[in-house]
Amino acid sequence: NKTIPRAEQWDQTFSLIDEGFEFLPGQREQLGSDLFETRLLGKKAVCIAGEEAAEIFYDTEKFKREGAMPKPLKMSLFGEGSLHGMDGEAHRNRKRTFLSMFTPDRVEELKKMALKHLDAKVDEWEHRDQVILFDEMQEILTRAGCEWAGVPLQESEVKQRTTEMIDMIDSFGGSLSRFRKGKKARDSHQAWLEKIIKDVRKRKLNPEPNTAAYIMAHHRETNGKKWDTKTAAVELSNSFRPLLATAYFLILGALAMHQHPETAEKLKNGPDSYGHWFAQETRRYYPFVPAMIAKVDKPFLWKGYEFKKNTRVVLDLFGTNRHPDSWDDPNAFIPERFDNWQGSPFAFVPQGGGDHHTGHRCAGEWLTVLVMSSFFEFFAKNIQYDVPEQDLSFSLKRMPTYPKSGFIIENVRKTANYE
Ligand code: HEM
Repeated sequence: NKTIPRAEQWDQTFSLIDEGFEFLPGQREQLGSDLFETRLLGKKAVCIAGEEAAEIFYDTEKFKREGAMPKPLKMSLFGEGSLHGMDGEAHRNRKRTFLSMFTPDRVEELKKMALKHLDAKVDEWEHRDQVILFDEMQEILTRAGCEWAGVPLQESEVKQRTTEMIDMIDSFGGSLSRFRKGKKARDSHQAWLEKIIKDVRKRKLNPEPNTAAYIMAHHRETNGKKWDTKTAAVELSNSFRPLLATAYFLILGALAMHQHPETAEKLKNGPDSYGHWFAQETRRYYPFVPAMIAKVDKPFLWKGYEFKKNTRVVLDLFGTNRHPDSWDDPNAFIPERFDNWQGSPFAFVPQGGGDHHTGHRCAGEWLTVLVMSSFFEFFAKNIQYDVPEQDLSFSLKRMPTYPKSGFIIENVRKTANYE
């Protein structure tokens, strides 16, 4: 068997935190290899990238998630006991419950709700000097997500609940202060949703039966038992909180429209599918989730390298989305590459790879793409705005990342054919 190339430094946790999205691609380039061994958080980890690597990583016969995820991620972002860390039949059962909520009808409904809240915001923006688009997107998505999930949201708590969800998402990159903020936000968010689960069970709240609040409160396992309140609240959160992550892609896409004006023109007048291509390219090109981690369940040999049981394996998602074996001119922003794209579900993995039903691929992927494309078309067709001087750079060292100014727009006005 071949020896897996090894990084020079003994433990690279701090390099990962310091270098962010550049760490994994940088190491691979330095070592001239698509796989390498290192230590992260004191444990041996094999880092891999590319389409073939993703295909192995998402083989549920070979990998398991139990015990793979670093504890801080559970404590702030995903919640303890969530489906992210489950395997086998138990995972598939839970995933089915999630996917039953994301039917085409319900996805379309969420898009309409999000556009309704966006429309209401535009009325406000017309009367404001400046708008920070990142903050506005977060609030719109909180309002739409809660409405869609059957979670009551008082006007007075919109700001608090929005900030909590963003603090949780913003906590994953390894900074201690952001982790603390995210953990605090998680505790408050969790308490809020546990109360809602209890109220739904007592019929003090009566959300529609097709909503996440209803489904998570009343779901029964195959043994007939309901979930404990904590688990129900964790999974209720997982069924709408990640929508807020879309705020990052939305302002990165707004940045792309600004920096490549020809794309904004095509969003306005181009082919019907352009909005979809543009959303896909935004998810491919811009960094958001850097990597995923799993543990080897059944030992196997891959390309002559031995993967032993319980080895931690890290798949570079960002690097796979820009891997030169799968993409022409990977570092250029070209929405047209998605025209009739027949690529593999392992080359394009911003929200995980493989199959949505049997594996861990993101349950909210269709939702994300639809909200993104409809918002980008809305920006291009329905409103005009100025982009004043500001710091629009985003750091690849920060995870997650976004334009530093939050993307400020001014002088927002509706176009003549505003719909
Ligand atoms: C899983 C990314 C939006 C719900 C995941 C995974 C990633 C991801 C990387 C893990 C894949 C893996 O374990 O290998 C994103 C990004 C989003 C987004 C980048 C938008 C910017 C959403 C939305 C929802 C959602 C809108 C639901 C409303 C979930 C759930 C899982 C998941 C439930 C767990 C799936 C499982 O373990 O089987 N997402 N997501 N996500 N996502 Fe998303």
